[in-house]
Amino acid sequence: MIGVVPERPYVVASAAQSVDGYLDDRAEARLVLSGEADLDRVDGVRAGCDAILVGAHTVRRDDPRLLVRSPERRQARVAAGLPPNPAKVVLTRSGDLDPGAAFFTAGSAARLVYAAGGSAEELRTRLGSAATVVDVGDDPGDGLADLPAVLADLHRRGVRRLLVEGGRRVLTGFLTAGLVDEFHLVVAPFFVGDPHAPRLVGPGDFPHGADDRMRLVEVRQVGDVVLARYLLAAADDYWLRQAIDLSRACPPTESAYAVGAVVVDDTGHEIATGYSRETGPREHAEEVALSRVDPADPRLASATMYSSLEPCSARASHPVPCADLIIRAGIRRVVLAWREPPLFVDCHGVERLRDAGVEVVERPELAGPAREVNAHLFD
Ligand SMILES: NC(=O)c1ccc[n+]([C@@H]2O[C@H](COP(=O)([O-])OP(=O)(O)OC[C@H]3O[C@@H](n4cnc5c(N)ncnc54)[C@H](OP(=O)(O)O)[C@@H]3O)[C@@H](O)[C@H]2O)c1
Repeated sequence: MIGVVPERPYVVASAAQSVDGYLDDRAEARLVLSGEADLDRVDGVRAGCDAILVGAHTVRRDDPRLLVRSPERRQARVAAGLPPNPAKVVLTRSGDLDPGAAFFTAGSAARLVYAAGGSAEELRTRLGSAATVVDVGDDPGDGLADLPAVLADLHRRGVRRLLVEGGRRVLTGFLTAGLVDEFHLVVAPFFVGDPHAPRLVGPGDFPHGADDRMRLVEVRQVGDVVLARYLLAAADDYWLRQAIDLSRACPPTESAYAVGAVVVDDTGHEIATGYSRETGPREHAEEVALSRVDPADPRLASATMYSSLEPCSARASHPVPCADLIIRAGIRRVVLAWREPPLFVDCHGVERLRDAGVEVVERPELAGPAREVNAHLFD
């Protein structure tokens, strides 16, 4: 069985830039890009994550505390059974980190240092109990810590939602590796105009070029800055893998497919899940998931239905096929892995959805694992 479970957290990258695309200037003092209102917004985003990750140069230059500022948000985390602050994570190859930095001294959050290039041992000695130093192995290409391995290790430690706060090299690394699900970009209303100041990202091969645009899901004015929130292709892959993984839980039968479905809002939060025959012998995955959502839930209008198999357009056991249930629920976007083969019925779910104006995204790269769960039907 091919492993398809996303063994990484959902990754939100966040940055603020000047209108001419700079993250900072070269002055001694830290450049203030956001106002109070936006800092409070970021505080809310931090509070909703399990960990916050930065590059070592940001720790050296900005000395950030990386804590949730609002006492109410910290209390809400504690009430939900979480530590008051997300864990702090830093990446380094040089090992040049000062144990007196606020990263290590401010707050009681767990602190993780991912050390590449043979710096782990010296750092362990020097940082002592101030942090857990992890060596996940170096990427053979650039000798930096292998980012998928960093994410897999964070996942093993229970991190399900990670906030990547920069700086330039870290953002470039995560974005070019296709490891960002959601990108929050703030534009501040001024110019830096210094070609030697750090830009938002460096050169690289980004998964989203002009022909493969990110999905803009929100634009918001926050004080005098503008927030643009984008969803990236990685997010579709992330949730579709969850749907395929769910399909493995279906009670087996020779007369129907095993399918998993996940309904996700546009902030990367799960609304509901379902799998075939989960609550009754004839139920379909999408039907189970939708039965768990309040039809008046305002998130549905911008939600996506992820299904390991094409939603059905006709079924003997139920008057309303899943494609119609999705349309009736007001869901405007469906992502699926595998078109239904004509084994039991002739399915036209994709056409039915598209005729109703629903955007349908097919990810044939994941059809193999979705089919593999159903291999017994084709023996
Ligand atoms: N406006 C914003 O939203 C924002 C947010 C954050 C930062 N910033 C600004 O961004 C600038 C810093 O950006 P930057 O590109 O110079 O530095 P950075 O991305 O913060 O840190 C780069 C450093 O992180 C370490 N690193 C990155 N990827 C790694 C990997 N895969 N494995 C191991 N180590 C890795 C290396 O540390 P070593 O050098 O120790 O080997 C590398 O030199 C600062 O001016 C800061 O103020 C702006």
